Amino acid sequence: MPPARLRLNDGHSIPQLGLGVWQVPAASTAATVAQALGLGYRLIDGAAIYGNEEGLGAGVRDSDVPRDEIFVTTKVWNDDQGYDATLRAVEASLARLGMERVELCLIHWPVPAKDRYLDTWRALIRLREEGRVRSIGVSNFMGQHLERLVQETGVVPVLNQIELNPRLQQAELRALHDRMGIVTQSWTPLGQGRSFDAAPIQAAAVRTGKTPAQVILRWHVQLGLSVIPRSTRAEGQAENLDLFGWELLPEEMAAIATLDEGSRCGPDPLTFG
Ligand SMILES: NC(=O)c1ccc[n+]([C@@H]2O[C@H](COP(=O)([O-])OP(=O)(O)OC[C@H]3O[C@@H](n4cnc5c(N)ncnc54)[C@H](OP(=O)(O)O)[C@@H]3O)[C@@H](O)[C@H]2O)c1
Repeated sequence: MPPARLRLNDGHSIPQLGLGVWQVPAASTAATVAQALGLGYRLIDGAAIYGNEEGLGAGVRDSDVPRDEIFVTTKVWNDDQGYDATLRAVEASLARLGMERVELCLIHWPVPAKDRYLDTWRALIRLREEGRVRSIGVSNFMGQHLERLVQETGVVPVLNQIELNPRLQQAELRALHDRMGIVTQSWTPLGQGRSFDAAPIQAAAVRTGKTPAQVILRWHVQLGLSVIPRSTRAEGQAENLDLFGWELLPEEMAAIATLDEGSRCGPDPLTFG
């Protein structure tokens, strides 16, 4: 069963499941992306800082899937924040990708210490008007950053990509996203395997006949989140795609909810950058 799609607040939609390509070596990114598209992935999550946009673009072109069926995300890196720098950075990303337009461009981190995310956002609004990016969103933004963005520009991001896994469930931010009409997308959704051995994950894996990774990814899907696991292995990619057509029980979702301890794998968005 193919991945579902989630509606965005600008009228477009995004596949609920995608492939993340952080740390995929530049030399093998084209093959990794083409393999994923061949298996059924339709969303590829990249970023300028990942250093593999050329490979991502080549993988899209090498695959048999028509370009208009593929959803490509890129992100503006912290050093490129500011109005003019962002316009230049997105053009450079498009050139590396070999694309006229991407479906989604995100501000990678808020970097509150530099306080340039408002001008960065204004540049993304212009790029959207010019058709260089179809939808615009953010990543690693906290409630205060989202609220300021909307107060100052009136434009609500379509999506906020945040660290989210069973040890860091982000309930408060998810509720704010719901109130604001913002899709939540989970990065490092497998949480570096920290919960694979946890009793609620193991019990659900036994009952469903699925792997711990699939149980965790299904938990994201069932919460209504978009999720972008990374696997370079064909078996891993196929495993992570098999999340639809089966369900976790309400009591299994409730048991996984108890694993939250608010602990991050990655940096703190308030201080990073
Ligand atoms: N916006 C941000 O600041 C930010 C930060 C970090 C990540 N991201 C995005 O989120 C994506 C995913 O996060 P991530 O790459 O950190 O971590 P992840 O997807 O949670 O985990 C990837 C790791 O798990 C392994 N794995 C994948 N599927 C598996 C399975 N079914 N069973 C067992 N192991 C499995 C992978 O190894 P194999 O390759 O061997 O399968 C890899 O080592 C990134 O690629 C990137 O696109 C965004």
